[in-house]
Amino acid sequence: MTASSTAIPTHANCLARDAADPLGGFRDRFALPEGVIYLDGNSLGPLPKSVPERVNRMLVEEWGSHLITGWLKDGWMELPLTLGDRLAQLVGAQPGEIAVVDTTSVNLFKMLSAALAMRPDRKVILSTSDNFPTDLYMAQGLAALLDKGHELRVVDPDDLDCSLDETVAVLMLTEVDFKTGRVHDMARLTAAAHRVEALTLWDLAHSAGAIPVDLNRSRADFAVGCSYKYLNAGPGGPAWLFVANRHQQTAHQPLTGWLGHAAPFAFDLDYRPADGIRRHVCSSPGVIGLVAFEAALDIMLEADMGAMRRKSIALQELFITLVETRCGEAGLRLVSPREASETAPFLRGGQVSFAHPKGYGIVQALIERGVIGDFRDPNILRFGFTPLYVGFADVFDAVEHLKAVLDTGEHLNPRYTDRASVT
Ligand SMILES: Cc1ncc(COP(=O)(O)O)c(C=O)c1O
Repeated sequence: MTASSTAIPTHANCLARDAADPLGGFRDRFALPEGVIYLDGNSLGPLPKSVPERVNRMLVEEWGSHLITGWLKDGWMELPLTLGDRLAQLVGAQPGEIAVVDTTSVNLFKMLSAALAMRPDRKVILSTSDNFPTDLYMAQGLAALLDKGHELRVVDPDDLDCSLDETVAVLMLTEVDFKTGRVHDMARLTAAAHRVEALTLWDLAHSAGAIPVDLNRSRADFAVGCSYKYLNAGPGGPAWLFVANRHQQTAHQPLTGWLGHAAPFAFDLDYRPADGIRRHVCSSPGVIGLVAFEAALDIMLEADMGAMRRKSIALQELFITLVETRCGEAGLRLVSPREASETAPFLRGGQVSFAHPKGYGIVQALIERGVIGDFRDPNILRFGFTPLYVGFADVFDAVEHLKAVLDTGEHLNPRYTDRASVT
């Protein structure tokens, strides 16, 4: 075999890699439509086959038979915390440090508010221009509500280190950039924030289930994340929040609903926070969404995170190599970091993004061919490499479709001129 024939992967190579893949058995655990190559698990994970069965059991056996007694008999009331303890195993937290509640944006608001109250003499919330906009919007809304002169300071990601000073109350970052997949070094930046006595709040929406996360080893103070991307809990699935044990007596969040009360069924007229993570629960848990998440999470906990990361990087490498060799002249520009690492610092997350002036049309034409990725303004095509249900031959076939779209000009079809409301 010549050097060049080893360098350019073939379909046969890819099939052989799939056959030898230790994670290959997981693919059948997901309900993927025939003929679809799903490269959008970074946006919405597919349906695990165990979820309908679990949700149906909750509906028919638990709710249907046990009625209101299910709150205790079936553990519904405790689910935000019991599920939090299970999720803790995936993200390097201790039992009692995570609650599965509300949405990512709402949890961010709660955690940011708690953190700001712990630094009353400081007014700066430091973040970056690559943050997901909802995080910035929630910070703006909270600052306006507090009306104490807080400033959201948004800097270029490369200027973070020189922007961390004694005015900063909270460093608020999304670990993996949703557009490019670039990863902030959580341990290093948390240490840098702590050196100036600022607290850290990490958004792990594109991290949990995609890259190894070790919240306690990184000494993170607060974190939030979602369940519907790499954790496959379904559209609008419940989000989660993390409060490090060392802050649990001092951290107070403002949505002081009855289920965060020390004694909700005493129906006192005054709020008294529960101990520990329970005070960050606000309302009655959405049990249907929680049991869907529980069933989906079981699959992630069965797989080895190291093996998942290794395969995700191998899929991404294959994709980049094939796009560069097969579609090199078509004007696609890699906007993700070229390197990725299995261990921290990770550099690139679970997705690969390319920029192209006709990116929206390319993504739409690919979707019509059964290759599902997505598009982010102004010109970014995103492809997620989720190792439990994407194989090497899928990547090969996806790039062949991409080449065909570009060669034939399918993406220039006028029906792709107007963008849909979800891209
Ligand atoms: C990094 C990040 N944070 C927050 C959100 C918003 O989450 P939610 O709609 O659950 O509030 C998203 C949504 O995609 C996201 O990517």
